Amino acid sequence: MSQWPDTRILDLFCIDLPILQAPMAGATSPEMVIAVSEAGGLGSLPSAQYNVEQLRIALDTIRAATKKPVNVNFFSHTMPEIDPGRQTAWRTRLAPYYIEAGLDPAMSVPAGGRAPFDSFFCEVVEAYRPEVVSFHFGLPDVELVRRVRATGAKIISSATTVAEARWLADRGVDAIIAMGFEAGGHRGNFLTQDMATQVGTMALVPQIVDAVKIPVIAAGGIGDGRGIAAAFALGASAVQIGTSYLFTPEANIPPVHRAALEHAGDDTTALTNVFTGRPARGVMNRIMREVGPLTDLAPAFPTAGGALAPLRAEAEAIGSGDFTNLWSGQAAKLAQPLPSSELTIGLANEAIALMKRLARR
Ligand SMILES: Cc1cc2nc3c(=O)[nH]c(=O)nc-3n(C[C@H](O)[C@H](O)[C@H](O)COP(=O)(O)O)c2cc1C
Repeated sequence: MSQWPDTRILDLFCIDLPILQAPMAGATSPEMVIAVSEAGGLGSLPSAQYNVEQLRIALDTIRAATKKPVNVNFFSHTMPEIDPGRQTAWRTRLAPYYIEAGLDPAMSVPAGGRAPFDSFFCEVVEAYRPEVVSFHFGLPDVELVRRVRATGAKIISSATTVAEARWLADRGVDAIIAMGFEAGGHRGNFLTQDMATQVGTMALVPQIVDAVKIPVIAAGGIGDGRGIAAAFALGASAVQIGTSYLFTPEANIPPVHRAALEHAGDDTTALTNVFTGRPARGVMNRIMREVGPLTDLAPAFPTAGGALAPLRAEAEAIGSGDFTNLWSGQAAKLAQPLPSSELTIGLANEAIALMKRLARR
């Protein structure tokens, strides 16, 4: 008999531990995915900062190293029309920082991309057949979802409100990630843009559990066994953990990000749209403080980021994270700097031990 009080996600994904390592675009390496899946959790490969060829290479590495189930994650946003007026206003706002760094404010900048799921990415899913496919920002169009489902993949997506969870359940997803306000990285919101009414994990998880019949995966602010046990007590069938995996040696983040995480406390993060145009949680830094953290000036997602790229490169070269997106959730302080495999097993053991202790009382 399983030691876990709810085995629906274990059964659905054919995994041993109800721990999903969160897909973290730019930060998750194939080695992290392999380590977590081999440990019995669900390793998750993010694709938003890959092109199709890079995704194929990462999946080749993963499939060669493990036969365990894996999740491949995609963003499902719609690319906006380029708005020259907004881009100019944004570049004008950032111009003083260019001048300070000795850069030409009119220099050409990269597009600032995060790629949405499309037919080409879908061909990769069809070729590699990951056991789970997760989406962020809702779902792609019906035909793409049909093609993913036809591969046999279980489909999951993030909800930040009960309304979003119901919307996803009505469209046939297999499980829902209940993403609380505490979570690091981009908010997965897609029916609302109102950040003032976003919900914390403690309140969100049980209300989504009550609203839908499918299993719920709790995400946001879970950093140790206590958070996992709490998520199960709230009715979750698994957890998705991101920030804690940023402390592992397998995390592919720049030194300025690692340094910021090491000093992070409960109140050192904020939601900001300055890096991409969409709200995301990260450690507060200079550009967030001076331009945001939330500003109407930022062009639509994902086009805001390109203009920050030269500033980021200049600052990182001198060891400064002033212009880097230092994504982090609110529970960074709880993280233990362990390899991904040990972290996954350690978190599971801690949660089991705690749940047993509580049951005996
Ligand atoms: C560095 C970073 C990058 C992220 N990138 C993605 C992503 O590419 N796709 C996605 O679905 N979620 C992404 N997220 C959100 C996570 O999937 C997850 O919901 C979140 O990390 C959970 O909260 P926690 O960070 O407090 O553990 C990211 C989070 C972080 C910290």
